[in-house]
Amino acid sequence: MKKHYVTYQEIHRTVKKLAGMIRDSGFTPDLMVAIGTGGFIPARILKTYLDLPILTVGIAYYDLSNRPAATPQMIQWIDEVREKLTGKKVLLVDEVDDSRVTLEYCLRELLKYNPEEIAVAVIHNKDKEKRGSFPAEVNRYYPGEEVGDRWIAYPWDAIDIDQHDRISREINQQKNS
Ligand code: G4P
Ligand code: MG
Repeated sequence: MKKHYVTYQEIHRTVKKLAGMIRDSGFTPDLMVAIGTGGFIPARILKTYLDLPILTVGIAYYDLSNRPAATPQMIQWIDEVREKLTGKKVLLVDEVDDSRVTLEYCLRELLKYNPEEIAVAVIHNKDKEKRGSFPAEVNRYYPGEEVGDRWIAYPWDAIDIDQHDRISREINQQKNS
């Protein structure tokens, strides 16, 4: 299966667009919650445009010993969450909406702290059947780009970033020719 290669430049542009979508929608979040590790970099870029504090949570399909798990695992959670999220408008940030299982798990956990509102922003949403679903309390969803059900090669996973950028350019040239 062909991978979808994205560069830091493209991600920055998509996140800028996302910030515009959030602003135009009238949603004024008080803070962001970034889901680690994929959500860290998009949340930081969003901060450039939205200037909001970032709280982070670590949720992954592996445990601290890097063993694969059957369900999403909390690697790290927000301390003193209640005071920080209760009554607040929260923007939950991740890099990709894939199966939606991690996002659903995280939303359900965060909703326990009674935020005023919680919205979701992702760089990429994969067009596929989702195993997870957004709880009814979630009314705002901001996907930066809609993509097919392909593996996305993110620049932060690249061992050789210059090769990553070369492959990305080659694929784009093929698309445009
Ligand atoms: P979702 O709720 O956001 O849809 O996440 P899901 O549980 O389906 O994702 C499981 C893991 O797979 C996540 O990583 C997610 O980032 C990663 N993933 C899904 N699709 C892609 C893809 O196309 N490319 C890449 N590079 N990763 C993908 P995680 O276990 O949470 O770890 P981390 O990588 O965020 O640290
Ligand atoms: Mg992730």
